[in-house]
Amino acid sequence: MIGVSGGIAAYKICYLVRYFVRNGAEVRIIMTPSAVNFVSPVTLSALSRNEVIINMFPPADKVSSSEKVETKTWHVNLGLWADVFIIAPATANTLAKINAGISDNFLLTTVLASRCPVFLAPAMDDDMIKNSVTVRNLKSLSASGFKMIEPEYGELASGLVGEGRMAEPERIFEIIKDFLLRTGDLTGRKILVTAGPTAENLDRVRFITNSSTGKMGFAIAEAASDRGAAVTLITGPVNLDTPEGVKRIDVRTADEMFRKVKSNCSKKDLIVMTAAVEDFVPVKTDKGKIKKEEKEKFVFEFRRAVDILEYLGKKKNGYKLIGFALETDDEIENAKKKLKRKNLDMIVSNNPDSEGSGFGTETNKVSFITERKTEQLPLMSKYDVGNAILDRYLKMK
Ligand SMILES: Cc1cc2nc3c(=O)[nH]c(=O)nc-3n(C[C@H](O)[C@H](O)[C@H](O)COP(=O)(O)O)c2cc1C
Repeated sequence: MIGVSGGIAAYKICYLVRYFVRNGAEVRIIMTPSAVNFVSPVTLSALSRNEVIINMFPPADKVSSSEKVETKTWHVNLGLWADVFIIAPATANTLAKINAGISDNFLLTTVLASRCPVFLAPAMDDDMIKNSVTVRNLKSLSASGFKMIEPEYGELASGLVGEGRMAEPERIFEIIKDFLLRTGDLTGRKILVTAGPTAENLDRVRFITNSSTGKMGFAIAEAASDRGAAVTLITGPVNLDTPEGVKRIDVRTADEMFRKVKSNCSKKDLIVMTAAVEDFVPVKTDKGKIKKEEKEKFVFEFRRAVDILEYLGKKKNGYKLIGFALETDDEIENAKKKLKRKNLDMIVSNNPDSEGSGFGTETNKVSFITERKTEQLPLMSKYDVGNAILDRYLKMK
């Protein structure tokens, strides 16, 4: 199902509909009342071979019809009928309304009534997409489980060049096709993912940690759950919402992470270790607060933390094991050594100095290293990197 809201990019939806119809999909289209100013419902109806729905309230003759979809509560029926709902273009207005739960047109009402995954392809001017209100809405929508089809940088209808150009129809089509093909391909698999940093207390109020935000691990857990896997996510302290359907276990320290991994690693098909576990932890933690009046300077003693990846590599009883390497120098060489040393099936290497990569970013540029080959991937969203990792896992012998 495709929802069209009122932006210039609406004309491009004709191509999107054609890609789907040509590939055998049944397409139903809903337009906002504004959208009809940008593309003709007649064109979209002809291309989709279905009536286009614009108005919230069907004409009286439709209400009494026995047709499958056109009944009194057709927003609910359509929401249940669709395998996937794509809002493209998604205007700033429609995004804001979805985020607020407003349902004052047929498209918005159907979004609320949908059980299928809803994809949003934002399209707007550079200033609109960078506006803090839109940024907040997009962030909140992602956290609520809506799937973003990221806009591109390029020429905009206003004549400006910048962010906010809707992803090209071909790209939207490929994203949805991949999503539908992957649906359910991990059903029955049990996957353990670790994410985030660990934090080690120095005294009652102070601690050391690292810059990991957990986004990569959470994205892998989300992708695996979307594809039907039973996912357990063990995470250090992060500020992220739990992906739908994922069992989350919160820990704080490296020792706690180890204990939880140990008790949750059996009967897993795949373990992906993305957590940035502290390598060194304090030998002892001061129970109170270290007072500055008592010391001019002092030495803190650290010990090596348990190497969880090494433990899992040695134990390996039936699961595939994928680790991450964050390297700033000799990225590939060092990752290859780690692959061998830790008995991994694949290592995902990334360099925090590469643009769009590393801590806190929404994207990542990674390399996949196995015993047989090294593959360099382009800059991708962390969710797409997650899917690519899972694709490689499915091909492992
Ligand atoms: C010529 C023109 C082009 C527009 N293009 C966009 C656009 O690309 N993105 C956007 O968010 N709003 C755009 N707008 C504003 C929306 O049409 C307007 O906010 C409208 O209320 C959206 O309604 P809807 O979200 O219900 O479709 C445009 C308006 C005009 C007049």
